[in-house]
Amino acid sequence: MAIERTLSIIKPDATRRNLTGKINAKFEDAGLRIVAQKRMKLSIEQAQQFYAVHSARPFFGELTEFMASGPVVVQVLEGEGAVLKNREVMGATNPKDAAPGTIRAEFAESVGENSVHGSDAPETAAQEIAFFFAGTELVG
Ligand code: PPS
Repeated sequence: MAIERTLSIIKPDATRRNLTGKINAKFEDAGLRIVAQKRMKLSIEQAQQFYAVHSARPFFGELTEFMASGPVVVQVLEGEGAVLKNREVMGATNPKDAAPGTIRAEFAESVGENSVHGSDAPETAAQEIAFFFAGTELVG
């Protein structure tokens, strides 16, 4: 399988509970390498831009206000089949449906406050990585 990169965000509910290290351990244990990482506070405009694909969804306001409510850690994960592997490690969007041992099963509080975001396909991963990182910031 090809080496891929995917965009991950550790969300405000997880940074608030000091879970960054525990979540990063899940990625690394699964063979994903963190090749870029920064902690930042999104503006509401940045959150709206990042989640623009969901702008017609009824939860758009709730989602974007939450993502701007506290620090996030944005990351690039690299590895074989990284997009799919990361989504497996994260677990289902709704923690009630997430498989045991996944990040969302262990840490997520609700379908909105679900601790992590991960790109859903290689094409979106490229766009989402470029949203946060310059190529020179990625060190494999
Ligand atoms: S998915 O994985 O894209 O199919 O999930 P989806 O259900 O389409 O949800 C997309 C993102 O919206 C968040 N979400 C919500 N936020 C607040 N309130 C409610 N009710 C809600 N439902 C879904 C969900 O956490 C997804 O965020 P990301 O960051 O993309 O995982």
